[in-house]
Amino acid sequence: MPQTAEPMGARFSAALRTTTWADHEQAESAGYMRAMLAGELPVTAYTDLVAQHYFAYRVLEEAAAAMREDPVAGRFVFDELTRLPALERDLEHLAGADWRERIRPNRATERYCERMREVCFDWPGGFVAHSYTRYLGDLSGGQAIRVAVERTYGFTGGDGVRFYLFPGIPKHREFKDGYRRRLDETGWSAVEQAQVIDEVRVAYRLNTEVLVELGRS
Ligand code: HEM
Repeated sequence: MPQTAEPMGARFSAALRTTTWADHEQAESAGYMRAMLAGELPVTAYTDLVAQHYFAYRVLEEAAAAMREDPVAGRFVFDELTRLPALERDLEHLAGADWRERIRPNRATERYCERMREVCFDWPGGFVAHSYTRYLGDLSGGQAIRVAVERTYGFTGGDGVRFYLFPGIPKHREFKDGYRRRLDETGWSAVEQAQVIDEVRVAYRLNTEVLVELGRS
């Protein structure tokens, strides 16, 4: 990331995407993801992914509640993105009524949660970096994952995949464009923008590690 004196302004969201796309490719091409999209994993492996999401979003959405009134981070808190209730319903469907006793975070998820606790509660840029990485991904590649999961396990009516359904966001592309406009309008300095980009790269790496660990189990 070249450090320039001038902030990237309207180009920030584009620069963010471009400079982190190689990290995105790493996440996308994790063996677990490929196997999931190819329909090669047992439903227990998918359940484990949902469980890891549950622990991560518990922290991320706790941070959203803490950041709601922040003048910068608060503009990236959207109730229609909230995933925790959907994850709870998915886990009930996948692991049964006693799902809370049956799931645990893997070590990579623990590291991911620890990082979010460090940077998402008192640094607006940190919160934005981690929210962006997850929610824009859920609204993008997440939709391909949903199709693969429904096809592989025969789920219908949203059961097991509510995490990927955003009833409050009828047009994903419009929402993502609006989100990117907000990124462009934050008024961050060039240094702050570079720090956010770095944190998005950290977020991708931590997500990839979760997928790699899932691939080993
Ligand atoms: C099967 C795996 C995946 C596939 C097929 C996939 C595919 C895609 C595609 C096609 C886009 C572009 C959508 C658009 O132009 O609006 C996208 C965007 C994105 N994905 Fe993924 N993705 C995957 C996994 C992930 C993972 C694991 C993460 C992060 C944890 C992630 C985070 C993102 C983000 C943040 C964006 C938005 C980039 C931007 O426009 O600024 N994706 N993904």
